[in-house]
Amino acid sequence: GESDVARFKRLAAERAVESIQPGMVVGLGSGSTSAFVVRRLAALRAEGKLLDVVGVPTSVGTEELARSLGVPLTTLEEQPVLDLTLDGADEVDPQLRLIKGGGGALLREKIVAQASRRVLIVVDAGKLSPRLGTHWPVPVEVLPFGWRSQALFLEGFGARITRREGREGAPYRTDQGNFILDCAFGPIEHPEELAARLEARAGIVEHGLFIGLTSELVVAGPGGVEHRRP
Ligand code: A5P
Repeated sequence: GESDVARFKRLAAERAVESIQPGMVVGLGSGSTSAFVVRRLAALRAEGKLLDVVGVPTSVGTEELARSLGVPLTTLEEQPVLDLTLDGADEVDPQLRLIKGGGGALLREKIVAQASRRVLIVVDAGKLSPRLGTHWPVPVEVLPFGWRSQALFLEGFGARITRREGREGAPYRTDQGNFILDCAFGPIEHPEELAARLEARAGIVEHGLFIGLTSELVVAGPGGVEHRRP
């Protein structure tokens, strides 16, 4: 049967999909929670609802899932401004700052979030954290060119670095063909400051700290489902 965590993800996703209005262009996140969002949208379409909603997928995986379920898709080229994005997260702090990228899709996820009027983050209660970095490393997407230099640069912040592995001992590659360095910083005291320093470094393509991007949160746990808005 369904695990508790899977049930919380599904319940949160179902509540979040209630925020989708007819005619919206909606960013579709990546990961297992976002898969529940896509499935819910497909189920509503089967009931004849939200038929004119189109999605912008944040990963090849989400694109394939949506396509297989008949959810219509568009691109940021065609729709450079989105009404709403629904996406998961790996860690959420009390100010709704996030760590994302456990699934490796952080760059497209951040591009889509920044292109959206509203960003609704969908999580199970286990993702809530007093301080980012407590439970998860920060994924940092780097160009393969010079990646060892980036690893040393990141170690300079006191992080323990692991290059993400893919299949058969080959390095994991993002949808853009880059590497991911998972950086275990431990609890991060000043996420804004860290983000700014990462952004100043050539060869670092993007990082998984999402700051000032979340407009709403749906969280489901043993106590029920809650939709937190500003
Ligand atoms: C994908 O790159 C991530 O940012 C996901 O949003 C995150 O890993 C959440 O995944 P789950 O919904 O599978 O927990």
